Amino acid sequence: MTRILVLGGTSEATRLARSLAEARADAVFSYAGRTTAPAAQPLPTRVGGFGGVEGLIDYLWRARITHVVDATHPFAAKMSANAVAACREAGVALCALERASWQAGPGDDWQHVPDMAGAVAALPDRPIRVFLAIGRQNLPEFAGRQQHFYLLRLVDRPEGALPLPRAEAVIARGPFTREGDRALLEEHAIDLVVAKNAGGAGAWAKLDAARDLGLPVILIDRPAIPARRVLGRVDEVMAWLRHSARLGV
Ligand SMILES: NC(=O)c1ccc[n+]([C@@H]2O[C@H](COP(=O)([O-])OP(=O)(O)OC[C@H]3O[C@@H](n4cnc5c(N)ncnc54)[C@H](OP(=O)(O)O)[C@@H]3O)[C@@H](O)[C@H]2O)c1
Repeated sequence: MTRILVLGGTSEATRLARSLAEARADAVFSYAGRTTAPAAQPLPTRVGGFGGVEGLIDYLWRARITHVVDATHPFAAKMSANAVAACREAGVALCALERASWQAGPGDDWQHVPDMAGAVAALPDRPIRVFLAIGRQNLPEFAGRQQHFYLLRLVDRPEGALPLPRAEAVIARGPFTREGDRALLEEHAIDLVVAKNAGGAGAWAKLDAARDLGLPVILIDRPAIPARRVLGRVDEVMAWLRHSARLGV
C-alpha cells in the first residue's frame, strides 16, 4: 500500500496536494507551523517539526509512510537534508518537487551572493533604502547595518519589536503582481532589493518591478542540499508515485 507524506509550505506543495486529493491518494500533508493561518489543504494535515532526523524516522514508521515528496521551499535546507537522511535510514522513497531557480534577463541588474552573510556584506556603506524581501527568520543578520532603512514584507504581523530599528513591515501573502510591487517600491523610495533565489512565479513580481525601475538586486543563492531525486512539475511527481507504487517501492 502506498502512503505519501508531503512536506509543504509552498504553492507547489498546495498544487500537489490538490492532485493527490483528486487521485484519491492516501497522503498526509505536513506544515512546519511557521505561519498563524496556513492555507487549508484537501488532505489530512499535521503541523509542527518532527524532531530532527530521528523524529522523522519514527514518524515515517508509525504513519507507515512509503513515499515522501519534499515540496518545501528551496531555502528550507534543514528539513530537506533531514528528509534525505531519514528516508535513507527508513527505506522510504523520496523525491523533491523543486522549482527552477531564477535567471537574469535583459535589463536585470543582479548581484549574486552565496548566502545571507554575503548579502549583508554586499550592502553599501552609505545609507540607502532597502526592500529586504527575505521573510522573517534571517532579519537579525542585518542588525549590524543599521544605517539603512529596511522595508520588510511578512506573512504575519511580528510580535514585539523588529530586530532592525529603521524598518517598516508590510503584512501580505503572495502571489504578488508586477504593478503592485512597482507601486510598493516607488511608494517607499527603495534604492535596492535583497531577495532569495526562490524561483517560481509567486515571488517573481518584485524582480520585474526592480527591472522596471532600474533598481539593483542582491540575489541570494540557494543553500546546498544532499543529492536526491528532483522533479520540477506536479505531473512528474504524480507519474513517479504511480510508477514506483506499481513497482512496489
Ligand atoms: N525558508 C524560506 O525562505 C521559506 C519561504 C517560504 C516558505 N517556507 C516554508 O516554511 C517552512 C519552514 O522553513 P524553514 O526555512 O524554517 O525550514 P528549515 O530551516 O529547513 O526547517 C527547520 C525545521 O522546521 C521543521 N520543518 C520545516 N518544514 C517542515 C514541514 N513542512 N513539516 C514539518 N516540519 C517542518 C523541521 O523541524 P524538525 O527538525 O523538528 O522536524 C526542520 O528541521 C518550510 O516548510 C518551508 O517550505 C520557507
